[in-house]
Amino acid sequence: MKTIVSLFVFLSAVFASELPEEFDKLLYEKGEKVFEKKCMECHEKYMDIPLLMKNFIEENNKLLNLKAPTGNEISFRLKQQIGSRDDMEFHLHQTNDFLKDYLYNPDLSKTICLEGVIRHFKVMPSMKGKITEEEIEEVNHFLYFLEGFNGVNKFFHKEELELK
Ligand code: HEC
Repeated sequence: MKTIVSLFVFLSAVFASELPEEFDKLLYEKGEKVFEKKCMECHEKYMDIPLLMKNFIEENNKLLNLKAPTGNEISFRLKQQIGSRDDMEFHLHQTNDFLKDYLYNPDLSKTICLEGVIRHFKVMPSMKGKITEEEIEEVNHFLYFLEGFNGVNKFFHKEELELK
């Protein structure tokens, strides 16, 4: 019993402290600044999913009056809809390619969002000439790690990513 308890304590410590090697704190912080400067005019960074669902599905966006999907919604849908999570390093490239294409050539036929969410919005204006490819890589890193994998990788929760 004692062995099982200490093994459990050991494993929880490992999982609580572990961030994947693909996570780059500096890039994440740069990306967060890009998001704050160039995206937050329309996108909120984070709101709880149940509240968002109530807003979009039951209240027709009248509860929160959002101008665009939130950062954490995008983070979740991006990882779920684009490419494959099998290889995180490659997945980051895949989400970056999607973001670059969407930011320069937005088109609702490419949407990764839920129909019940996206129907509240007109297409996003293109950011061609307003954001560099380097800034897109930074904001991609931020968006990728902003929201946990909702139960798939529990140690990715935002509390642990609130970096001081
Ligand atoms: C002027 C307002 C505005 C700004 C600035 C803006 N967005 Fe958007 N964005 C929207 C709206 C509205 C939507 C929902 C409609 C759509 O998907 O085109 C959206 C949707 C998106 C989507 C989801 C696309 C989809 O439909 O699947 C992504 C990803 C995104 N924005 C990323 C960003 C990033 C990153 C930035 C900053 C670099 C940014 N946006 C800046 C208004 C904006």
